[in-house]
Amino acid sequence: MDLKLIDKINRLKKEKNAVILVHNYQRPEIYRVADFIGDSLELSREAAKIDADIIVFCGVDFMAESAKILNPEKKVLIPVKGAECPMAGMVTRQELLNLKRQHPRAAVVSYVNTSAETKAESDICCTSSNCIEVVNSVPEKEVIFVPDENLAKYVQTKTDKRIIPWKGFCYVHAKITAEQVREAKGLHPEAKVLVHPECPLDVIALADKVCSTSQMLYYAKEDEARKFIIITEHGMVERLKLEMPEKKFYSIVATCIQQKKNTLPAVLRSIQEEVYPVEIDDEIIKRARKALDRMLEVSRKSD
Ligand code: 13P
Ligand code: SF4
Repeated sequence: MDLKLIDKINRLKKEKNAVILVHNYQRPEIYRVADFIGDSLELSREAAKIDADIIVFCGVDFMAESAKILNPEKKVLIPVKGAECPMAGMVTRQELLNLKRQHPRAAVVSYVNTSAETKAESDICCTSSNCIEVVNSVPEKEVIFVPDENLAKYVQTKTDKRIIPWKGFCYVHAKITAEQVREAKGLHPEAKVLVHPECPLDVIALADKVCSTSQMLYYAKEDEARKFIIITEHGMVERLKLEMPEKKFYSIVATCIQQKKNTLPAVLRSIQEEVYPVEIDDEIIKRARKALDRMLEVSRKSD
């Protein structure tokens, strides 16, 4: 780990009144320059209350966009080009408008893993940690849920509302199989299994607990178990090991290439040269913000 580089970034942050927000899946060296590390909901909440001139977002595009929507007057930077969540591009604004026309009585809940344009056409957003509460919070009996089909199917098992899913998926979680999880359980029979809800339903069925990335952290901290099998992008294990060196965490092979694009040199350059600023049309920001604010309000009430 390049300690000089870490030191330089941390000094520059102070000079420029910048903060660095980091998603749990980022490389462990990026954790060392973070002001805050978290899941999508926590990062949105943090972004909503930030007091800084510059926000450097180490994660993927939709997360940085959410930070910009919640802070239109601030400079939000994403250190590398191409750190884009493929699932967020799997439903377009036009496709959502067509779906709305087919189901005029349905509410639209969009996963935060969507573009700003899609959020702008949505009634409310949700993340993996509040998807059930959000869906149950809307008065409508039918809910269009985009873009993740696996997450939609999981939510359907937890609500009486009729969920209208879309055909998006996360390429990292969708290819995890129940067979892989059974194999890991065979190797570590005493370990508890924590599963991210972007996984297929037969994988979720093997979970001791279904969790967002940060919920995995809080569950493992509270629980008396000493060993956990972590079914999500394997970078999560680095965060867990850092926070709980006394416990054992086992992962399966599952890598999000886009989340790994950020590096320390790219973060340094990002603060130095103030690249790459997230830019979103003002009207889109205004409309997308309503959907994000409504989600944050639901989460606040249930705290
Ligand atoms: P979390 O909100 O659980 O961190 O999930 C984000 C994500 O991209 C999962 O693949
Ligand atoms: Fe997107 Fe999946 Fe990567 Fe999360 S793990 S950022 S959902 S591609």
